[in-house]
Amino acid sequence: MAQDEKKKVQLRSASWFGTNDKNGFMYRSWMKNQGIPDHHFQGKPVIGVCNTWSELTPCNAHFRQIAERVKNGIREAGGIPVEFPVFSNGESNLRPTAMLTRNLAAMDTEEAIRGNPIDGVVLLVGCDKTTPALLMGAASCDLPTIVVTGGPMLNGKHHGKDVGSGTLVWQAHEEYKAGRITLEQFMDMEASMSRSAGTCNTMGTASTMACMAESLGTSLPHNAAIPAVDSRRYVLAHLSGMRIVDMVHEDLKLSKILTKDAFINAIRTNAAIGGSTNAVIHLKAIAGRIGVDLSLDDWSHGKGVPTLVNLQPSGKYLMEEFYYSGGLPAVLRRLGENGMLNNDALTANGKSIWENVKDSECYNDDVIRPMDNPLVASGGICILRGNLAPRGAVLKPSAASPHLLKH
Ligand code: FES
Repeated sequence: MAQDEKKKVQLRSASWFGTNDKNGFMYRSWMKNQGIPDHHFQGKPVIGVCNTWSELTPCNAHFRQIAERVKNGIREAGGIPVEFPVFSNGESNLRPTAMLTRNLAAMDTEEAIRGNPIDGVVLLVGCDKTTPALLMGAASCDLPTIVVTGGPMLNGKHHGKDVGSGTLVWQAHEEYKAGRITLEQFMDMEASMSRSAGTCNTMGTASTMACMAESLGTSLPHNAAIPAVDSRRYVLAHLSGMRIVDMVHEDLKLSKILTKDAFINAIRTNAAIGGSTNAVIHLKAIAGRIGVDLSLDDWSHGKGVPTLVNLQPSGKYLMEEFYYSGGLPAVLRRLGENGMLNNDALTANGKSIWENVKDSECYNDDVIRPMDNPLVASGGICILRGNLAPRGAVLKPSAASPHLLKH
C-alpha cells in the first residue's frame, strides 16, 4: 500500500498516544519502560497479538514461536506489535470441561482488546474452544482482525501405521486392562499418538474450527491445515503479521468479513469437510457477537452439500494428508464450481473467497473427493425439532447409526 494512502485512517491508538498533554505523557511514559523509542508512537498502527499460549494447553504450547513470526511480519510492514495473553481454555487438561470457560475466554479477549490502545489484532488460536472464544471477543470489538491457527500435529505413528489423535486411547486402555499388552507397550502407544506440537490431527473440533475461520474469510488461505511444525506455518504467521497492518490502513474491520454470506459459506464448508457438530454452537455465538442473525434453521444451507473430505473420524486420513492434498482451498474451489459458495464474500487478504481459491489444485482425489464421488452424498447437519427438543437439536446423519434417523 502506498505511503500517502496509509495516512487516511485515523488510528484508534492515537487517542492514547497521539496527544501532547498529561494523558499522552502518561500512556507513552509507561510503555517506554519496555525500551520503545519516541518515533514508534508517531502514527504507526499498534497491533495486538492475542496469545492463548500455555503449557497447560499442550496444543497451543508452541505459540511463543508463532507469535515471534507474527511480530516480525508486523514490524516489517511498519506496525508496532504488542503481545498479550488471554485465558487459554485447553481441551485436554481443563476440568470439568473447556466449554464452561469458552465465554470467559471470549470476555477476557473482548475486554483486553477494547480497553487497550490497539488498532488491529492477530488472534493466535488452536485448541478447540480457543478459536471461537477469541473470534467472539474480537467480533464484539470489531477492529481489523486476522486469525492465525497453530496448526495440527503430525500424524501419530504406531508400529508403522498412522494414528489419529484420540484413536489409540480406548484401544490401549482395553488391551491393557485385558492383559493383552504390557505397561511398556501401553506407554509406547501413548507416546506414538501425540508426537509433535499442534492440535488434534483428525477432523475434530479444533480442525473444524480452523476450517470455519478460513471459510469465514478471517484468515489467509491455507491457515487451517498447514501442520504446526511445517516451516510454511511460520511463513503464514509472518505474512499474517504483515497483512494485519494493511488491514488497519484499509479499515478492513471484522464486520466487513463476517457477513451472513460468510456464515453460509462456513455452514456449507462444514458439510463438505465432515466437520464437528460443535460448529453449530460456536458459529451461532460468533454471529451473535457481530450482529448477524444466524438461526439453527440456517444450517439447512448445508443440506445437499456432499462430504468431500475423507478424514477421520468419519473417513480415513488425517490433517497432514489434507494439507498435502490441497487443503481447504481445494475444497472451497469444488464448492464454488458447483454453486455452493457465496463467491463474493470478502476475506482478510482483501480478496473475495473465490479469487483466493479459484486456481487451487487437488493433488489426491481420495483425500479430497470430487463431487461425483463423495465420502457422503449429502453431508451436513440436521436440525431436529419435536416434543423432546422443542427449541431444536442437532444431528450429524453421516455419523449416526441408521436406527437413530427415525424416532
Ligand atoms: Fe487440543 Fe484436541 S485437545 S485440539
